[in-house]
Amino acid sequence: MPKPQRHVFVCSQQRPNGHPRGSCAQKGGTEVLQSFWAELQRRNCFEQVAITYSGCLGPCDQGSNVVVYPEGVMYSNVTKDDVADIFEQHLIGGTPVQRLLAVEAVW
Ligand code: FES
Repeated sequence: MPKPQRHVFVCSQQRPNGHPRGSCAQKGGTEVLQSFWAELQRRNCFEQVAITYSGCLGPCDQGSNVVVYPEGVMYSNVTKDDVADIFEQHLIGGTPVQRLLAVEAVW
């Protein structure tokens, strides 16, 4: 297996309705994950980028959340419509998408 240049973790945490923390799954996390996989396939960059669903990344109130390594960049309030920008600018271009960066306090 080739080592990917970047690895994306997409929060897919689910919680019961009414849970005080909510969840990224309730905020479109599943659609975000599916959009990342679709973009990965469309660009045929399976050896450069890895996409992995994850459990809770921490800042549930700002979901959907996504983190990209090796930079350790956290994106918050991500929707499926943001995925193409993250792919183009960050995963391929190397420049994080400023408008989606999580607030400093998250880390
Ligand atoms: S449920 Fe996604 S960050 Fe907590």
